[in-house]
Amino acid sequence: MREQLFAKKPLSLLLEEMKGENRLRRVLGPVQLTSLGVGAIIGTGIFVLTGQAAHDKTGPALMLSFVAAGVACIFAALCYAEFASMVPVAGSAYTYAYATLGELMAWIIGWDLVLEYAVGSATVAHGWSHYFQDFIGIFGLHLPAALTKAPFDYDPHLGHIVGTGTVLDLPAILITFLVTAILVKGIRESATFNATIVGLKVLIVFFVIIVGAFYVKPENWHPFAPYGLSGISFFGHTLFGQTGKGGEPLGMLAGAATIFFAYIGFDSVSTHAEEAKKPQRDVPIGIIASLILCTVLYIAVAAVLTGMVPYDKLSIDAPVSDAFRQVGLPWAQFLISIGAVAGITSVLLVMMLSQPRVLLAMARDGLIPKSFFGAVHERFRTPWKSTILTGLFVATLSAFLPLRILAELVNIGTLLAFVIVCAAVLIMRRTNPDAERPFRAPLVPLTPVLGILTCLLLMFSLPAENWLRLVVWLLIGFAIYFGYGRRHSVLANRKAADAASEAA
Ligand code: ALA
Repeated sequence: MREQLFAKKPLSLLLEEMKGENRLRRVLGPVQLTSLGVGAIIGTGIFVLTGQAAHDKTGPALMLSFVAAGVACIFAALCYAEFASMVPVAGSAYTYAYATLGELMAWIIGWDLVLEYAVGSATVAHGWSHYFQDFIGIFGLHLPAALTKAPFDYDPHLGHIVGTGTVLDLPAILITFLVTAILVKGIRESATFNATIVGLKVLIVFFVIIVGAFYVKPENWHPFAPYGLSGISFFGHTLFGQTGKGGEPLGMLAGAATIFFAYIGFDSVSTHAEEAKKPQRDVPIGIIASLILCTVLYIAVAAVLTGMVPYDKLSIDAPVSDAFRQVGLPWAQFLISIGAVAGITSVLLVMMLSQPRVLLAMARDGLIPKSFFGAVHERFRTPWKSTILTGLFVATLSAFLPLRILAELVNIGTLLAFVIVCAAVLIMRRTNPDAERPFRAPLVPLTPVLGILTCLLLMFSLPAENWLRLVVWLLIGFAIYFGYGRRHSVLANRKAADAASEAA
């Protein structure tokens, strides 16, 4: 048993598998991969969570929160890039963990990636809903209140969960179904569609920065850090910084842990390695280029927004478009809401594209049922069954759970995945020192060690209950692994068969 839990999938086997049948089509070049990265990154985080973070946790120090979270992501991105160049197959961090840390860790990370992609998609769908409602509101249209958001939410001013008086978030459900339908049809269409929207989204972000800069009043940047520059807790005990009404840490770092969500997505470039024309070169380019571009844009957007409107007057639903309304530019509000709606759609597209591909990799290894999750559509060549299942799961979560709670859960899960990937790079350099590494993360071991430490720091800057939620999630995952995956593992069964034939 112990042997199986730590059984590693040999690198040679991974590369061999890439040559087999039933592969995804290789259609993506470096520009398309970077565009997929930017498409996955700029979304609900910058368009919605900036308002919540600045308002409740950071004030104008939000700019530094983006620097802090960006630094943690750069370390992790370098590690992802090294792996993606070594093992350019679908599955991302899951596959890397299988090659280095063994089957159980691979399972944990695969299960954890469901938090990142599927639960992340539900969070993003909520952000979409906020801007969609902001947009139709410009024309005086409003949905019935019962259909506008999740039925409960955390109220930072009261420090506990409150009912919102609604039933569900209808726009979030509708956009999820639409994206699911597009994805079942196929990646080539999706990538073209994505590239167009990404262009529009980046233009809107530039517009926010350049036009918004004319409306910045430097006095809005004072006080710069009303909640302080830290915000670290240890399972509910604040170690550094101020504490909110519900016991959550406040301050610049606590804000970084919230807006970390805005950076999630660069890693999804690596889940498309199998569809890349030249994965070894282009996947690292896609990961690092998209992350650096977004970091620069985010810091500028945070500076402009907190300069345009006093931080405690920022909207927590649609802060970017609302800031332009507040300075008297309603036409800009119109443009920004359209850009945000389109841009957030592309995030949803990439995240919901990534989830079935991770499941596909796990199914090929036998850890989840292959007949369902491994099924590739005959004509469309897409993992259609798991795409539809993902769609149903995302729609249900986004209908009933609030954005704030979903985002924190996604953040802690993704940070854990980053910690494991950084650790895996360290381990792989020791166990397979001579393996071909078309891209090498610089300054190893410093880079992965700093990646692990900064991601852990952000995990401890989230409200403590997220640790509990993470543990519950992982326990459910263990139940599935020990109930199904361990017995059906292709690797374990192959080893058992080899042992039996040797004995015979
Ligand atoms: N980074 C993505 C977003 O902010 C997940 O929507």
